[in-house]
Amino acid sequence: MRVLVTGGAGFIGSHTCVELLAADHDVVVIDNLDNSSRAAIVAIEQISGKSLTFLEGDVADRVALEKLFAQAPIDAVIHFAGLKAVGESVANPMRYYVVNLGTTMTLVETMRSYGVTRLVFSSSCTVYGEPETVPITEATSLRAVNPYGRTKLIQEELFRDLAAAEPKWQISLLRYFNPVGAHPSGGLGEDPRGVPNNIMPFLMQVAVGRREKLSVFGGDYGTPDGTAIRDYIHVVDLAEGHLAALAALDQHGPGCRAYNLGTGRGTSVKELITVAEQVVGKPINYEIVGRRPGDAAVVYADPSFAAAELGWTATRDVVDMCADHWRWQSSHPSGF
Ligand code: WQD
Repeated sequence: MRVLVTGGAGFIGSHTCVELLAADHDVVVIDNLDNSSRAAIVAIEQISGKSLTFLEGDVADRVALEKLFAQAPIDAVIHFAGLKAVGESVANPMRYYVVNLGTTMTLVETMRSYGVTRLVFSSSCTVYGEPETVPITEATSLRAVNPYGRTKLIQEELFRDLAAAEPKWQISLLRYFNPVGAHPSGGLGEDPRGVPNNIMPFLMQVAVGRREKLSVFGGDYGTPDGTAIRDYIHVVDLAEGHLAALAALDQHGPGCRAYNLGTGRGTSVKELITVAEQVVGKPINYEIVGRRPGDAAVVYADPSFAAAELGWTATRDVVDMCADHWRWQSSHPSGF
């Protein structure tokens, strides 16, 4: 297939491009490099030994997007492009609504006018908000608790409405849990701009000496060691999940379906630090501070629907996640 990957220079997008090329798909990337780097495109091509078509541009720019669709027929789209920082979305909600919704509406309109109706969408476990029970299944109620999460939820609703009204659409909504890790080659990984919001890049930047200390948000949760539990998933497992979802679109036919992409296993912040210390081979400086507002105590997926419907299961464990992330971080201490 010739697959358009929006946001293909980003963390999950770039790893998905590697897997797409390995599976002999033709890959077309559009990315405005707002929170990513052209070096990621070079790394994708180096790792896979294949080239892709790259356009530096904005998905919300209809003229630029039309050019890509007009060049050669696109068979399917994997849509990653968007903003993803929870805190920033609270401080500047309009930016999140304008960018995330505007991007998706332009993409859908352009796909419609070119008759492209296969879509895999980068959603998030954030659409479940703070769940009352775990594990989270796809039937868990949806209630985002911040503007970023609401933009994901609104996009999901848009896709459900679209598929209901126009039955030729084949859409998969992939709800990621906590993506971490890096490509095992060490050549591709997460490269956040500024201070990382998420724990793994922060922890690894402490390990490599870029930051002094990790603040552990909350040591008094009702969990075995008092720290919060999450379902960390290796980015290569996640990338493979996109290929499985893409392959399943034609098998499943028209409609819009949501899948949890997680491991089904919860890891506490302290457990994550312990594994990272073993992998890195030295202690990681950390301090337990107050809880971060909006954080849930325990979040992990029930990934059985994706296993049954997509034939996909995450295979990499937390040691793999830390080892691969460390290989990337230690060989690229300042990112790309
Ligand atoms: C993980 C755990 C923190 C940073 C976020 C988004 C969510 C989804 C995944 C995209 C929590 C703790 C963190 C730090 C810490 N993204 N922590 N010190 O919050 O589970 O989910 O990413 O859709 O929408 O909210 O991920 O990595 O920020 O936090 O102690 O410096 O690590 O409290 O328990 P989170 P995270």
